[in-house]
Amino acid sequence: MPLSKPPLAEKLTRRIPASQRPDLAGVLIPEADLQRRIALMGRAIARDYAGKDVLVVSLLSGTVLFLADLLRRLPFPLRVDFLGVSSYGLGTESGNLVFNKELKLDVCGAHVLVVDDILDTGKTLRAVTEKISALKPASIRTCVLLDKKDRRVGSFEADYVGFRIPNLFVVGYGLDFAERYRNLPFVGVLKPEVYAPKPAPKPGPASARKSAA
Ligand code: XMP
Repeated sequence: MPLSKPPLAEKLTRRIPASQRPDLAGVLIPEADLQRRIALMGRAIARDYAGKDVLVVSLLSGTVLFLADLLRRLPFPLRVDFLGVSSYGLGTESGNLVFNKELKLDVCGAHVLVVDDILDTGKTLRAVTEKISALKPASIRTCVLLDKKDRRVGSFEADYVGFRIPNLFVVGYGLDFAERYRNLPFVGVLKPEVYAPKPAPKPGPASARKSAA
């Protein structure tokens, strides 16, 4: 007799490593889809930059896995540098931008491709492109793995986008929450109770009576 299909929620949970199951609601983008899409992005970038002096500027630290996979798909000479920017503290809302690592390489005259993990409000990439433009590159374009378009404040579009995603807080494949989950090989959705724990119930009359006793 054929087995009945498991419900969707169960299927999603099965693809999550057991150790992460309590924190993740599901897998949004599986590893194979990431690799397929990144191969296509690499082809598009290689076509656009053939024969140019390319400097890839990667924003730390969320790009760590995406960058490693994307670079392997770029079959031409290029340089890589890193810019440290942080916009989140330990929560999920965009805070003030802090540059905590500066570029080492000369940007002047280079064709700069800025690589970031996710485009959200647009604040980070807007500030980064303004900062790099002041260094007189020959051109500047942006490449992001994920785009949460609904969250944009003002207008900003990336030149290369891996996946447009809904307004969910995602982790994995380099993306973190409080510096955790970066090592997951897929993009997953964090359970809201992990980043917005329910406040402890206020003591009611019963518990007040109990503690007074
Ligand atoms: P803005 O708002 O400046 O945000 O476009 C870009 C930066 O915010 C972080 N970010 C996230 N990080 N899961 C994360 O782990 C998310 O869902 C998320 N949304 C935004 C990220 O560092 C990105 O570079």
